[in-house]
Amino acid sequence: MQPFELSRVPAIFFGPGCLKRLKREVAERIAPGSAVMIIADPAMHKLGWTDRVSAMLAEAGMRTALYADFQGEPKVSEIDRAAAAARTLEAELVVGIGGGSALDTAKLVAATTRSGISAAAYALCDTPLPLDALPVIAIPSTAGTGSEVTRTSVFALETGVKTWAWGDPLKPVAALLDPELTLTLPPPLTAATALDALVHAIEATTNARRNPGNDLYCHRAIDLISRNLEPAVRDGSDLAARSGLLLGSCYAGIAIDNAGTALAHNISHAVAALAPIAHGRATALAMLATMDWVAEAVPEAFAGVARAMGEAPEPTAAVAGFARVVRESGLEISLRGDGLELNRPDLLAAQMARPENAPMRKATVRPVRDDDLVMLAQRFYRLTDASR
Ligand SMILES: [Fe+2]
Repeated sequence: MQPFELSRVPAIFFGPGCLKRLKREVAERIAPGSAVMIIADPAMHKLGWTDRVSAMLAEAGMRTALYADFQGEPKVSEIDRAAAAARTLEAELVVGIGGGSALDTAKLVAATTRSGISAAAYALCDTPLPLDALPVIAIPSTAGTGSEVTRTSVFALETGVKTWAWGDPLKPVAALLDPELTLTLPPPLTAATALDALVHAIEATTNARRNPGNDLYCHRAIDLISRNLEPAVRDGSDLAARSGLLLGSCYAGIAIDNAGTALAHNISHAVAALAPIAHGRATALAMLATMDWVAEAVPEAFAGVARAMGEAPEPTAAVAGFARVVRESGLEISLRGDGLELNRPDLLAAQMARPENAPMRKATVRPVRDDDLVMLAQRFYRLTDASR
């Protein structure tokens, strides 16, 4: 049998209402009277979830402060500001509540609070992460990034360049998956975030780092997401569908924590440098544009994807199955009017070749040669109606 390694998985609590478990999880880790820094999505704050979290922590005898002052991809200056606030508070634990941006911020804040070193130092693993990171409890409000269980934080340098930090000190100690937090997510965001998660699972089970242990998470995630996305988009209050998506995205997070992503993420990270297109949408479109090209190199792995989707175990059925899920999700395919400069696949190809996007290119099971980059970028432009 093929040897493999799986990394540590945080304690996971799943189910409607499981947010209330937070009080006990915090109380088991820090003494009463200690301080907790809450990093939250502004949307979660507006909806009153942070008040509930603060009240729960107050009941446990904790002091709290809230940081919810960011939009979209977290910037170094915002992370450093939140870490400074946590340092002033003498925080001993960080609670992150929100989508991927909030959770990624919470993880970096926790890693840098004690040392005071700027998050910028940890971009692309330039410096090893400090070993005295504060524990993080992550509460996702979107079924998407899986950040609640991974060692990765994606963030932006002051120049706007998207980058990432990676290492065990970034991994949360616990994840609370309460689908009730995701009930108000509007259909386009539900679609984009869930498709991101679906691509995580597909890439982790088809890339060069795939392994049979991790495939359990990948295949279950593919099953859960492909079955529950359409019902969740049709009726956002469908708690069973929301639950399936949230659990699926968490399993997909575990999957990428073990095996990483591949070409679709190389392209979507490259797109992010060119236009402000939501990560999940860009990733789903990139997968749609290139999946058949990658599948030719590893048909048996894509047959496994098809089987997990309930389709015939053929690579072509996986490609068709993914296209069907995208169609059912209502994702807007055309990128005309989304800020991407038309007819410039060369610009996208240049971004795909950049060092911050190299790991995803390298993990792609079909070798991506320099002259393949423009061809793949052209596929993306054609699909998204951006080449005219
Ligand atoms: Fe992603």
